[in-house]
Amino acid sequence: MNSWKSWNVCLLAVVLLSGCTTEPQESDVDTSRPTEFGYQTTPRTVRLQEGKAAYEFYCIGCHGENGLGDGPAARMLNPAPRNFQKAKFKFISTRFAELPTDEDLFRTISTGLRGSSMPSWGHLPAQTRWALVEYIKTFSDIWKRPPTPSIPFVTDPYVEMKDKSEAIKRGEVAYHGFFSCWNCHPAYVSEEKISEYSQELGGPPRSGLRDNLNQSAIKKDEEDKTIFAPDFLRDYVKAGTSVDILYRSIAAGITGTAMPTWIDAAASGPEDEEGNKLVTQADIWAIAYYVQDLIKKREVMISPDDIVVRTNREMRIGESGMEYTAELPVVATEEFIEDE
Ligand code: HEC
Ligand code: HEC
Repeated sequence: MNSWKSWNVCLLAVVLLSGCTTEPQESDVDTSRPTEFGYQTTPRTVRLQEGKAAYEFYCIGCHGENGLGDGPAARMLNPAPRNFQKAKFKFISTRFAELPTDEDLFRTISTGLRGSSMPSWGHLPAQTRWALVEYIKTFSDIWKRPPTPSIPFVTDPYVEMKDKSEAIKRGEVAYHGFFSCWNCHPAYVSEEKISEYSQELGGPPRSGLRDNLNQSAIKKDEEDKTIFAPDFLRDYVKAGTSVDILYRSIAAGITGTAMPTWIDAAASGPEDEEGNKLVTQADIWAIAYYVQDLIKKREVMISPDDIVVRTNREMRIGESGMEYTAELPVVATEEFIEDE
């Protein structure tokens, strides 16, 4: 090939490559995003600058300079701060292992994660929190994927009912029957009852279930750290305790842990002989009311002032599963049902 030809090829390649990688123009208006505080019209580079500055001031100590979850404090934390390069997020409204929506990240940054070391940043201006969302997404190319749809928020059949006992009862049946949440979370009824509930929802009789059925199972998380599925009578739930949030956590699942998406399983659940559905997506609302009811009954095992000991309650992993090393005294129930 003579030299002018190869020059032309080079030039073509440069033009094509730069065409492929051209960033959106600064003046681009992104209409998919919230308009709060003019967020939508602020040029992306300005938002990223603000996000970077806030990140390096508030987040870097735990999440690390490059978002690897390896800040100086990380060594002491379990669960570990999220690794933003892996881009696996737990409290999402999309399906298991999918990327969250911007609103999901914004909500978690705003509320924090109770019982973990992730603080609430709700005191920062909304514009700064949106800028943080934008900046976090620069740590991984996974964000170049097209966005995935959120799970359906089916109508809550119990929302108008003043007395939620019907929802709670149905939730108890669904939790222990078809959905078998006791595979990881504790069972709150006897093995015989579980078998009865299973058959009521078109499943098999049940017996010989796992050891320590009334305690949480031990699992490993994404960072290979030991994690417990919360016991709703004892432990914190992280994302919040309103039924809407519980519905979302249960329906979508919790990426990076063992907890799967339930909304699709519920849609293709069993039917009776006449073709009536024995399980529906609306049952996830019933489970959310049931779980919230358990949380309301939660007894604080030690003084609420002693929060550090409370979140790291004394336990060890014995031969037969999780064992509590100390029977901690029970004090008054702490009221913490938010958003109500
Ligand atoms: C004191 C340590 C600490 C600081 C400071 C901190 N985080 Fe976190 N963050 C954590 C921990 C720990 C987790 C993981 C919690 C878990 O997995 O339960 C987390 C998780 C997250 C998640 C993941 C949420 C999900 O759905 O998986 C996001 C997003 C996040 N942090 C954003 C931020 C931002 C933005 C800042 C700064 C404004 C910040 N964090 C500051 C400790 C911290
Ligand atoms: C295969 C194991 C597994 C199954 C089955 C499972 N979960 Fe979980 N679940 C977990 C783990 C592990 C966590 C802890 C996640 C964390 O703290 O990061 C969790 C957390 C939760 C949370 C707390 C979310 C928060 O904000 O902290 C709720 C609520 C929940 N599960 C409800 C359910 C319900 C209801 C079912 C049955 C429909 C279910 N889970 C089935 C493993 C499981």
